[in-house]
Amino acid sequence: MKYRTIGTDPRTRREVSVLSLGAMLFGTRTDEATSYAILDRYVEAGGTFIDTSNNYAFWVNGTQGGESETLLGQWRRSRGVGDAIVIATKLAGRPLEPSWTLGHNIEGLSASVIRESSARSRERLGMERLDLLYAHVQDPRVPMAETVEAFGSLVAQGSVGLLGVSNHFVWRVERCRQLAASAGLAGYEVLQYHHTYLRQRSDLSTLRSPDGDVGVVTGDHLDYLRAEPSLALVAYTPLLQGAYVRPDKPLGPEHDHAGTPVRLKVLQEVAQESGVTLNQVVLSWLIGGDIPMIPLIGASSVAQLDESLAAVDLELTADQRARLDAAQ
Ligand SMILES: NC(=O)c1ccc[n+]([C@@H]2O[C@H](COP(=O)([O-])OP(=O)(O)OC[C@H]3O[C@@H](n4cnc5c(N)ncnc54)[C@H](OP(=O)(O)O)[C@@H]3O)[C@@H](O)[C@H]2O)c1
Repeated sequence: MKYRTIGTDPRTRREVSVLSLGAMLFGTRTDEATSYAILDRYVEAGGTFIDTSNNYAFWVNGTQGGESETLLGQWRRSRGVGDAIVIATKLAGRPLEPSWTLGHNIEGLSASVIRESSARSRERLGMERLDLLYAHVQDPRVPMAETVEAFGSLVAQGSVGLLGVSNHFVWRVERCRQLAASAGLAGYEVLQYHHTYLRQRSDLSTLRSPDGDVGVVTGDHLDYLRAEPSLALVAYTPLLQGAYVRPDKPLGPEHDHAGTPVRLKVLQEVAQESGVTLNQVVLSWLIGGDIPMIPLIGASSVAQLDESLAAVDLELTADQRARLDAAQ
C-alpha cells in the first residue's frame, strides 16, 4: 500500500492509503458477512481510508439511511479498530422521511442539521470524534456563513477532525473556505467528486442541480487543485460501477460523445501492453497523475477489491501516461 497526507493542520491532518474503500452498499445490498470480508481484506492489505455517509443507502430499502454507518460501527467494535483507520462520513443528503428517491426532501446544511446529524453519525459509528466529515451536497437554501460556522465549531470542539465537501460548484467551495479562514475556523480541505479516466458531459442537468452535473470533476476543479496543492481530491465512482469491463453495465448518455471511443482505445492498448485490466490502468492513472488523486472504489466481493488493490503497485510508464493524457 502507499500513503499520503490529507489536511494541513498538525493537530488534525491524517495519513491515509492512496486507495479509499466505499462502504455505501454495506449493510443493504452487500450483506454483513461479505461486507466484513471486504473490510477485513482491505485493512489486511494496508487500506486505512473508508468512506460512508449518514444517508447510505436509503434508496435500497426505502429508509432514511444509516445502515452503512451502523455496519461500520459494529465492524469497528468487533475488530477493535482504533485510530489507524480513517472513516469519512457525510451529512446533508439524508431524506427527512423514509424514501426511495435520491435528492428529494433532504436535510441540507443548516446549523441545527450539522450539529444533530453529526452527533447521530458519531453514535452509529461508535466514534467520539469523526475523522473526516463532508458536506455531501450543496444547499442553496442556507447562507454559507451559517454552514461554515457550524462545521468550524465542530472542529473547534473536537468532535470532528477534518472537513470535506462533495457535489458543490467550485465557487461555493472557495467562498466557504474564504469565510472559514476569515473567521479563524477550520474549512474544507478534502474535495470529493466523481472522477475517472473517461470524460463525461457535465452540462446535463441532474437531480442535484438544473445547471449541470455538480458532482463531476471539470477543468474548474483541476485548476483549483493545481493552485491549492494542500487540498486533496477523493475521486468517487472511478470504475464507473464496472462499466469499463462489463457489458451488463453500459455507459450512460453522459459518455455519449466523440472523446469516449478515443480514450477507450488508448486505455485498452495500455492495459494490453502491461498485462493488466482496464480498471487497474484507470486507478493507477488517477493515483499517479500530476494532480495525485485518491480513487474511492466500491466492491461487492473480495475478488473485485483484490483487483483494485493490485492497481496501487502498477506504475505506468511516462510514455503510457502521456498517451493516456493526450487522448481526447
Ligand atoms: N459523494 C458522493 O456523492 C458519492 C456518490 C457515489 C459514490 N460515493 C462513494 O464512492 C464509493 C464508490 O462508489 P461506486 O461503488 O459507485 O464506485 P465504483 O468503484 O465505480 O463501482 C463499484 C462497483 O463496480 C463493480 N466492480 C468493482 N470492481 C470490479 C471488477 N474488478 N470487475 C467488475 N466489476 C467491478 C461492482 O459492481 P457490482 O457490485 O454490481 O458487481 C462494484 O460494486 C461509494 O461506496 C461511496 O462511498 C460518493
